[in-house]
Amino acid sequence: MVTNAEDSIRVLIVDDIAETRENLRKLLQFESDVNVVGAARTGEEGIQQARDLLPDVILMDINMPDMDGITATQAIIKEVPFAQIVILSVQSDANYMRRAMQAGARDFIPKPPSGDELISTIRSVAVRAREQREKYTKPAPQAAVAGPGLRGATAFDRQGKLIAIYSSKGGVGCTTLLSNMAVGLHSDQTPTVLVDTSLQFGDVSVFLNMQIKTSIVDLAMHIEELDRELLDDVLMVHECGLRILAAPPRPELADEITAEHIRKILQSLKRTFPYVLVDTSSTMDDITLAVLDSADLLITVATPDIPAIKDARLLFDLLAVLDFPTSKVMFVLNKMDRRTGITAEAVAENLKCDVDGWIPAEERLVTTSINRGEPLLMGDTNRPPAKNILELLGMVEERISVNEQEEVDLDQLSPRRLIGR
Ligand SMILES: Nc1ncnc2c1ncn2[C@@H]1O[C@H](COP(=O)(O)OP(=O)(O)OP(=O)(O)O)[C@@H](O)[C@H]1O
Ligand SMILES: [Mg+2]
Repeated sequence: MVTNAEDSIRVLIVDDIAETRENLRKLLQFESDVNVVGAARTGEEGIQQARDLLPDVILMDINMPDMDGITATQAIIKEVPFAQIVILSVQSDANYMRRAMQAGARDFIPKPPSGDELISTIRSVAVRAREQREKYTKPAPQAAVAGPGLRGATAFDRQGKLIAIYSSKGGVGCTTLLSNMAVGLHSDQTPTVLVDTSLQFGDVSVFLNMQIKTSIVDLAMHIEELDRELLDDVLMVHECGLRILAAPPRPELADEITAEHIRKILQSLKRTFPYVLVDTSSTMDDITLAVLDSADLLITVATPDIPAIKDARLLFDLLAVLDFPTSKVMFVLNKMDRRTGITAEAVAENLKCDVDGWIPAEERLVTTSINRGEPLLMGDTNRPPAKNILELLGMVEERISVNEQEEVDLDQLSPRRLIGR
């Protein structure tokens, strides 16, 4: 196969043993469609070179002194998502394979590889690298969204992620947490919209000190004309650039909005923004169900008191009945107070589920921030509870990226190829 250098498959080798690096190079040197662009001696060096050289395929050793290949794989997938990582290892047990797959590895070859096996694996995973490279290196249309308006902005080429927050008990802090997370997530690279589907008494706009000029009713009224121009007219812009889709200005207007409106609006926002954050009312009605239908992640919130924990249990049962995947659910405890004697561990034990994060009770700080309409994440993020909300945000981003990777794996990874070796 004769190929131009720029069309050839860019391969990076990561292995701490010089002889192995050399052997791999030799096995590949006569393949005109394969170009070994770099060889790294440590996991750290592998991450650095992957970042600089943007290879299509990475041949990764598992056992290395500074950082093992699985950890390096995890880090590289985050930075160079199109790179396809093939693990080379003498350890071919199922546990290693599973960990490698979870970390984002695409394939697994036992060491030492035969030339044929190595080359055919590289060619097969490179096809996917090409498709993914195209997807990830298109000019970022998000930046266009972040500009002064949405008109003329290029369509966002991937579906944005919808993060909903819900509690069947009111007053636990859903709006407080979500409005802060929206401010934390929004940036020029990740324009974010915060939607209030608590249609009767939604207060997202109050938490951000914004007067409702336009609201979700204006979209529902013109649902057949829903496009970027209409979004541009209706979404309000917070001083930090975050877009807000406010709840109706009066409770009686909530009746104007149907679940079908919500579905269409959320789908349209997911095509326009990388992140769509949705606040809900505590009623599990057809509006909330429409939000759940579009959600990529659901943050459920409870406070450390028996009624809230009981409601959380009922919610988990309901989500199971609805077949809502547990991988899309995060459970957060808010207003944690040591003096109550209820710990996150005790709640986890009682509900038989993980507590993904907890936020301390800081009444004075939170109340002042809400009354001023200034989210805590716009101020000092080094102290609780802003610090904890920021940490929670990190976990949310991580969960989204793990879920996304798993979806890709389910799509693309053939367990037969891995296990059949
Ligand atoms: N970590 C916290 N520490 C102390 N108080 C908090 C904390 N988080 C929220 N609160 C307080 O709890 C109250 C309810 O918060 P919030 O409105 O965010 O809850 P909600 O779940 O959205 O309620 P609703 O059911 O009315 O929509 C607010 O008065 C807020 O000040
Ligand atoms: Mg609320």
